[in-house]
Amino acid sequence: MNAGQGRQAGAGQGDLPVLQLRPLFLPTPGHGFEAPADETLDDDVMGQGLPEYNVFGVRPVDVERVFWYRWIAGHQASFALWWAMGDVVGHSRDTVPGPAEVDLLAACVEAYSALLLYSSTVPRTHYHHHIRRRMALQHPSFSGAWAPDYRPVRKIFRGGLPWQRDPSCAALGVAVARNAATHDYIAGHLVPDGPSLLQQSIGTPGVAVSREKEELYDNFFLTVRRPVSRVRFINQLRARVGGIATDLTHHGLYPNVEGHHHPVVTGQSGGMLMTLVPGTLRILDEALRLVTEQQLQGVGA
Ligand code: HEM
Repeated sequence: MNAGQGRQAGAGQGDLPVLQLRPLFLPTPGHGFEAPADETLDDDVMGQGLPEYNVFGVRPVDVERVFWYRWIAGHQASFALWWAMGDVVGHSRDTVPGPAEVDLLAACVEAYSALLLYSSTVPRTHYHHHIRRRMALQHPSFSGAWAPDYRPVRKIFRGGLPWQRDPSCAALGVAVARNAATHDYIAGHLVPDGPSLLQQSIGTPGVAVSREKEELYDNFFLTVRRPVSRVRFINQLRARVGGIATDLTHHGLYPNVEGHHHPVVTGQSGGMLMTLVPGTLRILDEALRLVTEQQLQGVGA
């Protein structure tokens, strides 16, 4: 496990993972990675084999700390995956990307779906009293639509790139459909009877995303824009996946909150999302592996 994901003594709960949030450094969208510095890859977080986790956690959870961690780290890992996808989309333009690149896109979309589920395991009341309230304080119309790293890959999620109908992109199509179903599902789960923060605010239809809103969004998710090398980029994604693995192995996907669980996807409701429940770490590991290969090919480019 990487440095910074150590453990601290817990009062009667065994060792608690630290789950330290850190700033995520990313280039501004549209800018490339910086020339490689004298940096080395950190250890592969899953190098010892894929850790196992319980779907229903057993140990009691520190609610405030764990779900805040999940919300921020889950978003940061998503931003990094979008970045890796943007690298492919940026140079493929109108032609079908090669098989390795299509595999990478599909794996990143699947991993983003797994992260949507992971981030949304927060009990609904806690989400409304803490997380959603904090987002509304950041801006009354705070929205995922402000995510700067999503814009370059948005068309993929809409099936809007000319090559996406090619038969070689079938698995990507399945992943995109699962992603849309997952976002709809978790939105309905956490906010069953309400419009999004954006839709709630006055006079917003068609609102353009200003740089200021993007900065507020970045700032909320501890994301800092600055030149980053590909090795640093990989290390940051590895650290996020490592932290999530530590969290899941300790708390389970659906943590034990004062003796209760708050499952998001269940057998009856699951549909396309069920594969994410036991598969979160496997799916993240696969995306991390392909992104690492892709980015290391680009080192020195
Ligand atoms: C779990 C983490 C979440 C992530 C990473 C996320 C991400 C995103 C992104 C990237 C968009 C832009 C989509 C586009 O422009 O095509 C978006 C839009 C949207 N999201 Fe989420 N989302 C999350 C959770 C939620 C939740 C809990 C809700 C509950 C209401 C929600 C409701 C919406 C809605 C309604 C939109 C459409 C734009 C708007 O009206 O705000 N999302 N989200």
